[in-house]
Amino acid sequence: MLFLNKSEIQKLDQNIIQTSVEKAYQILLSKDYHMPDRMHVSNGLNSLLLMPCFSGQYFSTKLASVFPEAMKHGQPVVNGVMVLSDNISGQPLAIMDGAAVTAQRTGAVGGLGVKLLSPEKVKTAGILGAGVQGFSQARYLMFNRRIETLYLYDLNPEMAENMIKKLKQEFDGVDYIILKTAEELVERSKVIIATTTSHTPLFNTEPENIKGKTFISIGSYRPDMQEFPDDVIKLADDVYVDTFFAIQESGDIATPLKRNVVIKEKIKEFSSLFEKNKYAENKTVFFKSVGMGLFDLTVSSAIYHVALEKKIGHIIDF
Ligand SMILES: NC(=O)c1ccc[n+]([C@@H]2O[C@H](COP(=O)([O-])OP(=O)(O)OC[C@H]3O[C@@H](n4cnc5c(N)ncnc54)[C@H](O)[C@@H]3O)[C@@H](O)[C@H]2O)c1
Repeated sequence: MLFLNKSEIQKLDQNIIQTSVEKAYQILLSKDYHMPDRMHVSNGLNSLLLMPCFSGQYFSTKLASVFPEAMKHGQPVVNGVMVLSDNISGQPLAIMDGAAVTAQRTGAVGGLGVKLLSPEKVKTAGILGAGVQGFSQARYLMFNRRIETLYLYDLNPEMAENMIKKLKQEFDGVDYIILKTAEELVERSKVIIATTTSHTPLFNTEPENIKGKTFISIGSYRPDMQEFPDDVIKLADDVYVDTFFAIQESGDIATPLKRNVVIKEKIKEFSSLFEKNKYAENKTVFFKSVGMGLFDLTVSSAIYHVALEKKIGHIIDF
């Protein structure tokens, strides 16, 4: 049994992770997998998500907990354990830090969104929420696009300052600017990525600040959570979700649907982009990700292969 900790997973090549996310979408199209809707066990504000998935050589199970108040105690909001197992013998093969796998694969999900849904020459972008996912989204955004100015907004400006310090170690030469409001960030950015735990929309702005831009929402994973105002989905030419489960799971889709701001037929699966790339310059695009077990399966199996090849991690007796 191989054990991989946070720092080992954080150091892995971004290209390997993003290619694995792309592979997950291809498997989704081929339908060669078994993945029940993830199970939410809620206890007040806190949630435990059970995310099993079977495909090909492996099956994986992620136990992810989301404790929004943990940050008040200086602890991360998302924690978890990732187990990768053999799909023939059923034997567990690897245990990994689930939070680190989540951060990497979620960053790559956003990064692939940027790659397929934003103009190639985009120079300005903004991240709303400078926590663990915000940092990972910024890394994969800049892995896919040559961003010159990155705007950041967080309720807690110290989070944004810390994020800039970490980003500068990898992506120097970028102008990092912390803004005082989410509205300002949306006005100035061409690509806007939200990675907060907010229950209410983060901004309210005029349609001209929304049109022709790419919006990616990562944070909301419950029907009572919403990061973007209804106007974003209303004005969007194209709306994508990583999985149709997002329609019932996230308030960013469920709420505007309930208010008849958008019709269900407008919402497409992101994987459909691999059949025919539909992106055109100056479109308004909204992509909502809630994540899925298939991403964890392809990413953790790629991590497992790299770790065996490069002798990373610790072999433990079970
Ligand atoms: N789509 C996916 O696959 C996926 C994967 C992992 C996590 N998530 C979700 O992403 C969200 C963020 O997770 P995280 O691990 O980065 O949490 P985190 O606590 O590390 O970061 C959240 C940041 O958002 C800021 N924030 C909260 N409300 C805000 C508001 N109204 N305006 C501005 N900033 C605000 C906080 O100050 C904090 O810095 C969570 O809801 C989590 O469940 C989604």
